[in-house]
Amino acid sequence: MKTTINRVSEFVNKEVTIGVWLANKRSSGKIAFLQLRDGTGFIQGVVVKADVTEETFAAAKSITQESALYVTGTVVEDSRSPFGYEMQVSEIEIIHESKDYPITPKEHGTEFLMDHRHLWLRSKKQHAIMKIRNQIIQATYHFFEKEDFVKIDPPILTGSAAEGTTELFHTKYFDEEAYLSQSGQLYMEAAAMALGKVFSFGPTFRAEKSKTRRHLIEFWMIEPEMAFTTHEESLEIQEKYVQFIVESVLGNCQLELNTLGRSVEKLEQIKAPFPRITYDHAIELLKEKGFSDVEWGEDFGAPHETAIAESFDKPVFITHYPKEIKAFYMKPDPDRDDVVQCADLIAPEGYGEIIGGSARIDDMALMEQRYKEHNLSGEAYKWYLELRQYGSVPHAGFGLGLERTVAWICGVDHVRETIPFPRLLNRLYP
Ligand code: 4AD
Ligand code: MG
Repeated sequence: MKTTINRVSEFVNKEVTIGVWLANKRSSGKIAFLQLRDGTGFIQGVVVKADVTEETFAAAKSITQESALYVTGTVVEDSRSPFGYEMQVSEIEIIHESKDYPITPKEHGTEFLMDHRHLWLRSKKQHAIMKIRNQIIQATYHFFEKEDFVKIDPPILTGSAAEGTTELFHTKYFDEEAYLSQSGQLYMEAAAMALGKVFSFGPTFRAEKSKTRRHLIEFWMIEPEMAFTTHEESLEIQEKYVQFIVESVLGNCQLELNTLGRSVEKLEQIKAPFPRITYDHAIELLKEKGFSDVEWGEDFGAPHETAIAESFDKPVFITHYPKEIKAFYMKPDPDRDDVVQCADLIAPEGYGEIIGGSARIDDMALMEQRYKEHNLSGEAYKWYLELRQYGSVPHAGFGLGLERTVAWICGVDHVRETIPFPRLLNRLYP
């Protein structure tokens, strides 16, 4: 019977054939232990010299790392393996022999691994991260479906900037100028006026000259936008969504979390409601923590976010930032014109901002004023202003960065390992 590693529990004490690659092996004169992988999982194959033909044992001893094989054997339960099963191999058919696989079981430097990302993805750790990323993607669709959101796909080629003009990737669009999308938000606002509650999920591009462990040039963002919704109601959806994805990873990816050595106890604490502190309060907190030179009106950097997050064991919302350091579309606080109704959600354990969101300006006159202040006049933004002309309503939305969320949930240091082929400041290969 042909099957895959993730399905072996259905075949205990039965003989199966699985197409695999050899991840690693160990052997002595009488027995060989093969670490096999097929994409769905990893399993150990045990080849006992006395139980197989001479050819099969010779093959087991000589196969090279990453050779492709059909392995036939009996599935047995094994409580010593984290996976719970192993295979007593009876036959090995070599499909393709791999020569001099560059990623050996020894330690390699990061640059070397990044140059071999197309192969590095096969490793157990990278496999676990990709499985958790996939789980978060599945949970995202599930959550927004359950909450009556409609998936909407905003364009990637755009004529207008959503998040400021300094980080845009520029390209020609026949005779016009175009940019790669930094955020689908402006289009999602139009979609919310057509469909009520909407979300997008797609790639976004930022020509950021930042070389940090949190910045990618190309990253994936989930952007919900909701009509008839206040800032506070948006925060409630955000914490519910984050709790849902963490629970879904805990419920479906125990093996992968275990492979990554991720502390499950820390993730189990992620239950709504999340704490909320204002930007003003955050400034005080930072001063208490020894950031004596931090001043009201400055944006927070990674060390600030980390210091604030340390005071909480759940993600924390920092709300009401100064309007000067936030995007043009954010709605002012009704009681104070110098701060806006926005929030950044800061992940625990130093993983930084995973969500940015706000209530949007719905008043035409105020939006026109912001256009002037930000030099946004022109045809490219005309349609966005028109949304305030025909049945404008209070609305709010947010963007969750997929890779930073994966990094946090997996407990991996750098976002470069959370996307299959990272685009970084100095890297477009592979
Ligand atoms: O805070 P940002 O810039 O917000 C927006 O783009 C809004 N238009 C979203 C909205 O309200 N619809 O980005 C949102 C999130 C950040 O919190 C972060 O998680 C992620 O996107 N992000 C990045 N992730 C990886 N690399 C980068 N260079 C990122 N820039 C932002
Ligand atoms: Mg932000």
